[in-house]
Amino acid sequence: MLSNKVNLKDMKKTGRNTSIYGTRYVSEPIPKYEIPEEGMPSKAAYQLINDELNLDGNPNLNLASFVTTWMEPEADMLINQTNGKNFVDNDEYPQTQIIQNRVINMLARLFNAPKGCDFLGTSTIGSSEAIMLGALAHKWAWRENKKAKGEDCSNPNIVMGADVHVVWEKFAKYFDVELRMVPMEKGKYTLTADKVKENIDENTIAVGVVLGTTFTGQIDQIQEINELLVNIKKEKGWDIPIHVDGASGAFIVPFLDPEFEWDFRLSQVKSINVSGHKYGLVYPGIGWLVFKDKKYLSEDLIFEVNYLGGIIPTFNLNFSKGSSMVIAQYYNLLRLGKQGYSSIMNNLMETANYLGNTLKSTGFFKLLDEELVLPILAIKLNDNLKDLIGIDNLTVFDISRKLRERGWLVPAYTLPANAEEIAVLRIVIKENFTRDMADLLVQDLKNIFDGYKKNLDENPENEPSINIF
Ligand SMILES: Cc1ncc(COP(=O)(O)O)c(C=O)c1O
Repeated sequence: MLSNKVNLKDMKKTGRNTSIYGTRYVSEPIPKYEIPEEGMPSKAAYQLINDELNLDGNPNLNLASFVTTWMEPEADMLINQTNGKNFVDNDEYPQTQIIQNRVINMLARLFNAPKGCDFLGTSTIGSSEAIMLGALAHKWAWRENKKAKGEDCSNPNIVMGADVHVVWEKFAKYFDVELRMVPMEKGKYTLTADKVKENIDENTIAVGVVLGTTFTGQIDQIQEINELLVNIKKEKGWDIPIHVDGASGAFIVPFLDPEFEWDFRLSQVKSINVSGHKYGLVYPGIGWLVFKDKKYLSEDLIFEVNYLGGIIPTFNLNFSKGSSMVIAQYYNLLRLGKQGYSSIMNNLMETANYLGNTLKSTGFFKLLDEELVLPILAIKLNDNLKDLIGIDNLTVFDISRKLRERGWLVPAYTLPANAEEIAVLRIVIKENFTRDMADLLVQDLKNIFDGYKKNLDENPENEPSINIF
């Protein structure tokens, strides 16, 4: 008996021959702030971390993020096999570089790079890095041009709408460029050519336009802005390039509406970014930057690094990064082809329209924009909630909180300057969000409103309040 006791104690101590939940590792605090003196068995480390991560939301119910949460098992296999390859080890992994270049070729052609143009591009960690690099190249080109003419080049500015992603502001601050951000107006949440005209001058390095804004999924007036800049070039000689932020849209619009001209077909569009990890349908982090022609990227910005036996030209903000997402992007392009991407994007639009119409039919919601261009819904609460459920102080923030109790992650936020008084819920429809899930979401929303109404019916003496159930 005694020896049995000792044995058990021993086993508990070492964690051998017992279930993970029978070991000391689950009953003692996990090292959090200092590297432990001794390690632990791999199974215990895995179990502890895995269990803790259950406190995160479920990526499949995350309607907040644009980022891909599901890929095919074959893609997962390729990713696992290439996780250990440092992308920058060009000399050791030349085939990976070749694959990157194939993807850039495919994207440049998807974005209609004109024949005869010597396009070039790079993979990045995401659209943020791609936007900073694109805008930086335009700053350099503007300065070289100014210097060549013997003109002052101390005050560059960049023009964009307040509908841009925060990375554009980051660019202006980090790279010391004056930010000319056009505020939004009630009912107009995108950048117009008129506003661009008011803000550009001879020191404008570029105009940033968005193909699918983060806030509403709408598109800036790209064609009108291009036309304006073509005319300005003729009238004043200012050759102001457009960088299109196609973080989401550049993997959607070419498949849904190939005739719509937003890309290199427009003469002032010189560079485009897209997030592979959004509608490129790859896990984070992969983005792409493509220049219409290499002449828009100063050679001064390309660093020739002599590394591990080879000369590597790099144009990136970081150095080492994994190869796996570059490979995964190529997998998707091969696996799906144009036809596959088109049918997925069409499905997404159908689900988005279905969800939008069903939400409207509940009477509780209205859409910020009835005409969806991307599978992104920005929804507001209806003004007549008082008549429907007897409460008029409910906000989208309350609904967002309530949805979390069921596991749905649907963000609520206010629109950018000067439309801050408008608060919306945003739902990003992704590949794994089926029509059936749309029905489940709507049912949960109806249950939330029923709950408020029931609570008020049962407790009429209560002040109508949003916090009581
Ligand atoms: C329009 C737009 N631009 C840029 C970004 C930043 O992209 P990333 O997360 O790939 O860095 C986003 C992200 O949501 C976006 O929606």
